[in-house]
Amino acid sequence: MKSSENIVLIGFMGVGKGTVARELSVNLEKFNLDCDDLIESSLNLKIKDIFETMGEAHFRAIEKNLAKFLAKNVKNAIISTGGGFVNVKGLNKIGRVIYLKAGFDFIIERLKNSENSEKKFAKRPLLQDLEKARELYKSREKIYEKKADIIVNVENKTPKQIAKEIKKIISKS
Ligand code: S3P
Repeated sequence: MKSSENIVLIGFMGVGKGTVARELSVNLEKFNLDCDDLIESSLNLKIKDIFETMGEAHFRAIEKNLAKFLAKNVKNAIISTGGGFVNVKGLNKIGRVIYLKAGFDFIIERLKNSENSEKKFAKRPLLQDLEKARELYKSREKIYEKKADIIVNVENKTPKQIAKEIKKIISKS
């Protein structure tokens, strides 16, 4: 892959996109941009508050604008996305899309057992009702697979191992 091409990490909430992106950016000596962080800092509001005060549809519109911005202006970066960013138009124009894949129950169990677990659930409006979240997971599974250039199964692997695996795959392509 061209060295200036962005790497775009997609996958369900809590799968570890941000952690893996940070690991990868250290590994590949590239800057890491996190879509949710960019949206939060641009609106000076937390995602949770954007959902509460402006509604989900508004958040999705901002994601679409951000996708256009990234495709036009950013090169040579590791980009971690929110779980719903996969639905923006032109995702593949931003860069090489890597799907971090894990089962729903695995993700939820790991989140429950992680440090600051409560905060990790509280900051995600779409993880408040786990049955609804499971339905969302089911409806998104195929979309993630379809949009991905590369699929990496991340269950039972550390962020370091995952980053190493990604590095190996992209060095060959
Ligand atoms: C969302 C995922 C979140 C965040 C927002 C909506 C989603 O990001 O963008 O709460 O629709 O799946 P994470 O995937 O980092 O939790």
